[in-house]
Amino acid sequence: MVQRSLREQRQVGRERGRIEQQRLELDLDQHQQRLELDQQPGLDPEHAEHSEHAEHSDHAEHPDALGQDLVGQDLIGRMSATILDGKALANQLVGQLRERVGELQTKGVEPCLAVVLVGDDPASQVYVRGKEKRAAEAGIATRDHRLPAETSTRDLLELVDRLNRDPAVHGILVQLPLPAGIDEQRILQAVDPRKDVDGFHPDNLGLLMLGRPRFVACTPQGCMRLIAAAGVDLTGKDALIVGRSNIVGKPMGQLLLQANATVTTAHSKTRDLEALVRRAEVVIAAIGRPEFIRGEWIRAGACVIDVGINRLASGKLVGDVEFEPAKARAGSITPVPGGVGPMTIACLLANVVDAASR
Ligand code: GUN
Repeated sequence: MVQRSLREQRQVGRERGRIEQQRLELDLDQHQQRLELDQQPGLDPEHAEHSEHAEHSDHAEHPDALGQDLVGQDLIGRMSATILDGKALANQLVGQLRERVGELQTKGVEPCLAVVLVGDDPASQVYVRGKEKRAAEAGIATRDHRLPAETSTRDLLELVDRLNRDPAVHGILVQLPLPAGIDEQRILQAVDPRKDVDGFHPDNLGLLMLGRPRFVACTPQGCMRLIAAAGVDLTGKDALIVGRSNIVGKPMGQLLLQANATVTTAHSKTRDLEALVRRAEVVIAAIGRPEFIRGEWIRAGACVIDVGINRLASGKLVGDVEFEPAKARAGSITPVPGGVGPMTIACLLANVVDAASR
């Protein structure tokens, strides 16, 4: 079931590549027509673009004025993006990992992940629970280490040292962010690079930069797997990363570069983000601001990977990209939730199985 839908997604991705050029031309046409429509009183082209029913109602009222526009609208408005189902892709990956775990177990190896959570940040508690639950599904054992927020850097270093020396532990995950009093960089550097399944240790970041990755950070790795599932060939593509964090934006840049994309990293000091988004064929949104990237900025046919998970006052979860209008323009797009999130966890587990296999 999952297999077939992924194959279908790839096929649709390739199909979209072929018609992308055509769509871009149509997009220009439509833009031109909209500029013309803007000068006609009584018409609201923005509404026409976003309303599913605009075609019928407006066409009935203004057959001549909208007739031409509807040709473009027909082809562009109806062709909404392929939704990149991160849950399905993660399920597939976890299924493969379960098989690899089974093989390791026949050789007497029990893959084991140590999970360290300091403090009581509610979001971190949810993430850690999710990681442990998924690990169990893959047959990976977990060891839970919960410490109070007042834990000192020294005490945490001692725990990391113990886990480093424990041969039964293959991977160590220290959930971030750590409480303000703890020296995060010292802790991350203390983790044995061969057990650093988060890929945050300077050795592992350095190896990634050299094109000889050992452990690749889980979120960027998940994004790359989603792009591959979309059937997007990154060679020569204009890729834009919005966000320059050590755990997402920076490693993401290296991965895209190694896949031969032309990479731009935008951040809080970037001027004219809109112009950069408009030309990007691949957008990785990782800024942590709800719907900051407007759907109308998305280039027709672009692949949009939304790393953001933001909770609105209403309780609704949204990404960093305005989903519905982006979906109407993109070639492929990840939903929030159900896109990058499940892939981050699956990639963590893949790193644990790799660590146990070495
Ligand atoms: N906090 C947010 N994302 C991550 C992650 O991928 N790993 C860890 N350890 N902490 C995080």
